Parts: sequence; structure tokens; C-alpha cells
Amino acid sequence: MSANNNEQMVVTPWEVSGKIDYDKLVRDFGTQPITPEILERIQKHTGTLHAQLRRRIFFSHRDLDWILQRYEAGEKFVLYTGRGPSGPVHIGHLAPWVFTKYLQDKFDAKLYFQITDDERFLYHDNFTMSDPQKWAYENALDLIALGFEPEKTRIILDTKSMGVMYDLALRIAKHVTLSTAKAVFGFQESTNVGLVFYPAVQAVPAFLESSLVGHNVPCLIPAAIDQDPYWRMTRDVAPKLGYYKPAQIHCRFVPGLGRGGKMSASMPETAIFTIDPPEVAQKKVLNAFTGGRATVEEQRQLGANPDICSVFAYDYFLFMEDKEIEDLRFNCLSGNIMCGECKQILAERVKRFLADHQEKREKAKDHFEEYLFNPKDV
Ligand code: TYM
Repeated sequence: MSANNNEQMVVTPWEVSGKIDYDKLVRDFGTQPITPEILERIQKHTGTLHAQLRRRIFFSHRDLDWILQRYEAGEKFVLYTGRGPSGPVHIGHLAPWVFTKYLQDKFDAKLYFQITDDERFLYHDNFTMSDPQKWAYENALDLIALGFEPEKTRIILDTKSMGVMYDLALRIAKHVTLSTAKAVFGFQESTNVGLVFYPAVQAVPAFLESSLVGHNVPCLIPAAIDQDPYWRMTRDVAPKLGYYKPAQIHCRFVPGLGRGGKMSASMPETAIFTIDPPEVAQKKVLNAFTGGRATVEEQRQLGANPDICSVFAYDYFLFMEDKEIEDLRFNCLSGNIMCGECKQILAERVKRFLADHQEKREKAKDHFEEYLFNPKDV
């Protein structure tokens, strides 16, 4: 869990750094790439493929084929994802949530959304309990603003819902040894014991629906691949408790606006937060790292490099349709568009997105309670 300043790839739930090789992650983590056959199968049910699937932003999975098979046999699945509330949400976090909303709509699936105020209290030395609880509320507004349906979405706030979760958490924890936890999560002698127990808590929502309804219900977890260690542990424990192993679909990281690296709250100047005033976000975009040449003349002659450009990456992950992104790539490579112009286009879109999202966040305040998990509604 220590800082990594060289280029070596590190992907854990607490740290993502170095140059990320997604093929290597698939090999190292033992997941499966998403194949054209799976995409075709998804499209049969959804009609259209989400851009994050078409562009392979969601690129890897475990048991997605099994989830589809159960679904085709008439068995509905629940979705499960979440947030560790240590500060404001950035638009990288929104990418898997936007995709989760697509899955909810297309498969008419219930979503459990876990907000881990306990995890964040334990992780940050300087946090009091009220810090993550404040952010839990703020972050929940971002989720609600994306339009999730209240009847099908249950927000679990760990410290408030622990009464219902504790029994399952204990049953899970009893099957995880300290040596497994150290191997999977890299815990050290200095790690506090709360954090060592915490993975059992993050496993709970994967089994919650099954436990509450009294029979096995498949569960699919959409998230970036940094959360994978939790699912390896959860999947190991599942058969010991008589539950289905949860399936996963993993996405890549939306990069920051700097040179390489994922968008991260710890680098606020290269992250766009959903609560940033639009003009502040605009400034961040205008200062972004691009794949441009040293001079305009050179760029007109030789073209620029979209593959290392953070502005292009943003357009690709979040802001442009297929035709537009294809044209932009061509114009960038052929020197028809300069970085300043490209930044302006993105800045305008980011500003518009934020203004709209912030209005929806305000409205979400009146509906927060409707989303809170209550075991009686199952
Ligand atoms: P957290 O708060 O670190 O991240 C929330 C979600 O955002 C994903 N993510 C990103 N996705 C794309 N681009 C990025 N730059 C980026 N950075 C983060 C994370 O993978 C995650 O899906 N322990 C968890 C909270 C949690 C959870 C879960 C997450 C509890 N249960 C189930 C996913 C699924 C956490 O701290 O996430």
C-alpha cells in the first residue's frame, strides 16, 4: 500500500499507478477478456451496445457468460457496485455508474450500491467518523443524479445498515484467514485490524439479495478493475456459504488530465470533480496534457498523437459519439486540428455536463431517503 513513484504497474483497491497493461491484468488476475461472442449475446438482450462495451472500456469479466445463461433461462440477476466516500466524486467514478444504469435499464435489474464510510474511516488516518459520512451523502447525490430508479436501487450506507449485514459479514470473515487477507490485499503488520476485517463487509452485498429472499440470486458487479481483489476473496468464500459466486464486469480507468495515470482525487488539478464550478473545470481542461507537437507548424505538418492525449481520452471515454471520435482521431493525426481548439471543444462539453449534473444533484436532495436500503422492502 506504499506510494509508487516509478513506472512499475500497481493496481490495488488503494493504489493505481505506473503504466497500466490491461492484458497483463487479465492474465495476472485470472479474468476473461470480453469476446465478440459475449458482446453479440448482450446485444441480443439490449438492442444496442453501450459505447463503453463497443469501445472495450469494459474489457474483462468473470462469469458474465454464466449470468447471461441464467438470464436466458429466466433467472434475473441483481447488480452491485459502490463508492468509498473520502471526498467528492470525480467524473472517472461516473463511468462505471453510467454503465451500471444502462444495465439496470436493459435488464430490469435491482442495484445494491454500497457506500463504505467504514472503509474510508479506517483507511484515512486523519478522518473522524463524520468525514466519510458527510461525503457518503454528497456522493449518493451523484449516483441519484444519474437517474437510477428509486424502486430498483438500494443505497447501503455501511455504518447505518450494519445491523442487517453483520451476520453475513461474520459468516464470510470466518472463512478468510489472515494469511489469505495479507496475500490478496497486501496488509502489513502496521495495518489496523478494522481494515483487515473490512473485505468481509465489501463482500456482503454480493450475497445480500440471496440471503434476504432465501434462495440464490445471481449477482453482477460492474466496477473498474482495481476492486478485483475483493471479488477474488468473495468468490472463494461463496460456495462455502452455499451462495453463487458473484460475476464481474471490469472497466479501464478514465485517465487524469495530466501525463498518464488514472483520474484520482489525490491529484485534484488533473481530476474533474462533479462539484467543481464549471469555470474551474474549464481551466483544468485548458491546462491538460495533450499529444501535441512543439510548434503549430510542426503539428500541421506531422499531426499529433491522440493515443497519449488526455483530452482525446476524455472524449473517448465520456463525451463523443463514434463518428465524432473517429473524425477527431483522423484530424488529430493529420494535423487538421490544433490542441487549443480540441481543448475548447472538450471544455464546453464538460461545462455543459457539469451544469446539468449539478442541477440534478440539487434535485436529488429531495429524494435521498427513497433510495436508502431497508431490508423490509425486499
Ligand atoms: P472508489 O470510491 O475508490 O471508486 C468507486 C468506483 O469508481 C471506480 N473508479 C474508476 N472508474 C473509472 N476510472 C477511474 N479513474 C476510476 N477510479 C475509481 C472504482 O473501481 C469503483 O467502481 N471500496 C470501493 C467501494 C465499493 C465498491 C463496491 C466499488 C464497495 N463495494 C462494489 C465497486 C463495487 C471504493 O472505495 O471505490
